[in-house]
Amino acid sequence: MAVVGLGYVGLPLTAAFHSAGFRVIGFDNDAEKIKILDRGETYLNHLGVELSRTLASSDRFEGTSDPASFARCDSIHICVPTPLDDERQPDLGYVQSSTRALAQNIEPGTLVVLESTSYPGTTREVVLPILEEHGFRLGKDLFVAFSPEREDPGRKDHDLREIPKLVGGLDEVSTEVSELLYSKAFRDMHRVDSAEIAEAAKVLENIYRSVNIALVNEMKIILERMDIDIWKVIEAASSKPFGFQAFYPGPGLGGHCIPIDPYYLSWKAQQEGIPTRFIELAGEINTNMPGFVVSKIRKALQQRDRNIDGARVLLLGIAYKPDVDDSRETPAAEILKLLQDENADVSYHDPHIPSFPKKRRYQFDLCSIELTPEYLASQDCVVIVTDHQVIDWPLVARHAPLIVDTRNVIGGYDPQGEVWKA
Ligand SMILES: NC(=O)c1ccc[n+]([C@@H]2O[C@H](COP(=O)([O-])OP(=O)(O)OC[C@H]3O[C@@H](n4cnc5c(N)ncnc54)[C@H](O)[C@@H]3O)[C@@H](O)[C@H]2O)c1
Repeated sequence: MAVVGLGYVGLPLTAAFHSAGFRVIGFDNDAEKIKILDRGETYLNHLGVELSRTLASSDRFEGTSDPASFARCDSIHICVPTPLDDERQPDLGYVQSSTRALAQNIEPGTLVVLESTSYPGTTREVVLPILEEHGFRLGKDLFVAFSPEREDPGRKDHDLREIPKLVGGLDEVSTEVSELLYSKAFRDMHRVDSAEIAEAAKVLENIYRSVNIALVNEMKIILERMDIDIWKVIEAASSKPFGFQAFYPGPGLGGHCIPIDPYYLSWKAQQEGIPTRFIELAGEINTNMPGFVVSKIRKALQQRDRNIDGARVLLLGIAYKPDVDDSRETPAAEILKLLQDENADVSYHDPHIPSFPKKRRYQFDLCSIELTPEYLASQDCVVIVTDHQVIDWPLVARHAPLIVDTRNVIGGYDPQGEVWKA
């Protein structure tokens, strides 16, 4: 089998298939990644280096950028990016080009599974026609299915192989074949009647998160005006044993999924002439959160007769969520930009991200600074953006004179300075 795209999704999937005993070809058009894996090193630190070492030393794994290798595979699993373009429309370019590359090389009888998140209909309307252009016929010499990746990078309480694996084929036999194959590597299978159901289930999962996060973010703003602590409210509501699932407010959405995937469905719904008001509203509320955080920083500084202009502001954690080195779509970038626009002197500390990666819309020439008592004490404001476990929170609590906390983390460390929740 081959896994196409060895990123946050493809590399753990490769490891799951490999540990189930399969021979796996890891295909990525980024030759540098293949070299790193061959050396038994890693470019995704949260996965640990042991995974790469195991693959590098195994005769059942081969990393490659050569599409000719697809000819040796019985199944191919596509895990390439599905971003938005500048008009916030689906960019299926990676899915199309990788499907073309494999279509030119596969043998009759191959199973092709799309794992990349996309709108319902992508597997049938985008992937299948490319395979058909190369002479393959579904139900005759080709099996095609969709199986969404439900991995949550950095999460320690769920092994990938224990997350129920959804599969839905473009026809009955494709569903059957893909269920059989995945069941060798995943503990629980959840088979659905079509690829479209599996595709829609994946976008529903992410829209559900986006909408609920927007709801608590809006609640946070409302309750703050009433001088009620949202975190205590969520804790109280969580005591109900049914009908309530806790979501937590924060500085805004990040990552490759929640800020992006809902718009895949919006686009498809638009094609059908249907508005997606929940998705748009949630997107709007979540997108405004970095602005809310900056307004909090402004107020906190003003209370001390300081302006943002010229203030020294330290951001703690720039990854989009705790304990990963992923800064894709991170709200830290927007917070940083808003602060710099007002001439703040901004620095950051993130043990997982030594220098601020270049973004599509932002470029900051900044490196993670070392956290010392003197540095913390010299800041006008310290902003907790992402609560990585490895940050020395007791040190922050002892020395930061003013803290704006978007994650409700510092209260537990007996802070000596002033704390504002945001
Ligand atoms: N990151 C997550 O937490 C997560 C969770 C669930 C689903 N997803 C979905 O999984 C898909 C992949 O996301 P990711 O986070 O792993 O992306 P990623 O950017 O981490 O990895 C994608 C990999 O694909 C490679 N690639 C790009 N074009 C290629 C091509 N034509 N041929 C071969 N390789 C190619 C890139 O070099 C990269 O290594 C997306 O659709 C995403 O929405 C991601």
